[in-house]
Amino acid sequence: QALEGEVSGFDKGDHSHFMQKEIAEQPEAVRRTLLGRLDHRFNTAHLGGIELAAREMLDIRRVKILGCGSAYYAGTLGAHLIETLARIPAHAEPASEFRYRNPVIEQDTLYIAVSQSGETFDTLAAIQEVKRKGGRVLGVINAVGSTIARECGRGVYLHAGPEVAVVSTKTWTSTAVAFALLALQLGRVRDLSAAQGARLLAALSALPDQIASIVTREAEVGALSAILAKADHAYFIGRSAGYAVAMEGALKLKEVSYLHAEAYPASELKHGPLALISPETPTLAIVPDDDLLAKNLSTIAEVRTRHGPVLAVTHEGVRLDGVEAAFAVPKSEPELDPILLNIPLQLLAYQVARGLGRDIDQPRNLAKSVTVE
Ligand code: G6P
Repeated sequence: QALEGEVSGFDKGDHSHFMQKEIAEQPEAVRRTLLGRLDHRFNTAHLGGIELAAREMLDIRRVKILGCGSAYYAGTLGAHLIETLARIPAHAEPASEFRYRNPVIEQDTLYIAVSQSGETFDTLAAIQEVKRKGGRVLGVINAVGSTIARECGRGVYLHAGPEVAVVSTKTWTSTAVAFALLALQLGRVRDLSAAQGARLLAALSALPDQIASIVTREAEVGALSAILAKADHAYFIGRSAGYAVAMEGALKLKEVSYLHAEAYPASELKHGPLALISPETPTLAIVPDDDLLAKNLSTIAEVRTRHGPVLAVTHEGVRLDGVEAAFAVPKSEPELDPILLNIPLQLLAYQVARGLGRDIDQPRNLAKSVTVE
């Protein structure tokens, strides 16, 4: 019989929940994901376990990323990173759907399976479908020696350390970092310049300290969580990679607080959901200080016109008018900004769930890894 506060031998230490502990552990988790993988000599990353020669990397025409839940959303950001940095068309798809549509498997596509536990049945079944048809799969996995790691045979280990809370926090972040490393390595074999490589290496090295500066600011999400906790429904919106962040943030809130949150591409809001915006339905906007800032501000204005409360996760220095509450993070490089913008959403989900008295580490109806169909 496990004691209260102790799940199968793991200790929460000074934290109230494993989720809170694992959010706080992210600087260390990211440090371990980066360890030994930054190549300053050639301004690239080096992921030995992917076992792809430069020649094979050049032959990749497409990347397909497969995962479930948070792994799928981290893969969505991963696809964005690979397409942006390596200029290879890349797309993420829920692994749980993949095998049911008789997918076309191509020789020049690189398939990547993402899983924290390495035991998710749907992800394993998707890999087996790829392999049965002669495709090659890499794993991006946390649990060393897990079933999916063995099935893939090669890939990237996150080294994020054990994640005990059912919901993913540090492994989402470490997965995103692993994809940044992979995208950098693929990019440097292709058209990404040494100067661009150096820029990204510097930004990757700075991430752990930047994350550390955010995870200690739990109290600052209070103004946002107070508004969300009163609502039955919320929208999470973002553009481009910000949409991947919105999807993960909405999932996190659903999983731990049981509130209904729907992620939507900010640009799509006017094509339907705007009809549902009202003073009772808050919208949380991901608003980086990037070249889409003006677009995001105009979406916020559309929501305000319909009297919808707006919350924002943004960058220091961005001026937001008519926003109820905002949380600003430090800037990284634009490609890596989504990693930092996601962290306040973890704090937010945690705080809303805590205020509502939810079973944070073991939400109802959910399991840490779903090993059945
Ligand atoms: C379950 C968990 C999710 C998790 C998903 C994928 O559904 O409740 O939090 O994201 O599995 O897990 P994996 O171990 O494959 O990353």
